[in-house]
Amino acid sequence: MKHIYLIGFMGSGKSTVAKLLAKKLNIRHLDLDKLIEKKLNKQITSIFKDEGEETFRSYESTYLKSIGITPVISTGGGIVEKEENIRWMKDTGIIIYLKTSFHIINKRLQNDSSRPLWRENEANTALFLRRIEIYEKCADYIIDCDTLSLDGIIDEIIKIYEYKGNLDGEK
Ligand code: S3P
Repeated sequence: MKHIYLIGFMGSGKSTVAKLLAKKLNIRHLDLDKLIEKKLNKQITSIFKDEGEETFRSYESTYLKSIGITPVISTGGGIVEKEENIRWMKDTGIIIYLKTSFHIINKRLQNDSSRPLWRENEANTALFLRRIEIYEKCADYIIDCDTLSLDGIIDEIIKIYEYKGNLDGEK
């Protein structure tokens, strides 16, 4: 196993969990959205605004496949929109879904303006319902984040990591 890929809806805590998990295991982590922003020297909101979602999705696939040996990867919520991304993640690691209820996500993102796809309520609900089906279907492991503390979530992932026999010794 090369990578742990964290997937889940916007606001499910993927970036925070990746950071803390990597710290606890003393391994490296990478946030795919941050990588895209860095490579293009442009914020996600501007990419969506200037170039549209489809172009963003192509950047997402390109940069996903460009990741080297970094063990822990937090992805953007829409990474599962493309079957080729799911296939890539399955072939190069394990997929862990940070399952979080709409109620909690809605609370967290109430005043968020950094996510172009987080809009008014009805569209959000529809997107959430469509996405959770894909997350559940493609995940190797599902962590119910509503019932766990941040440390609890990390501990669950560490159990999986240990069970899978570490990440090819990568640091
Ligand atoms: C998106 C989620 C965002 C970011 C972009 C699109 C999505 O990442 O990639 O705004 O389609 O759900 P987060 O899940 O980190 O918010």
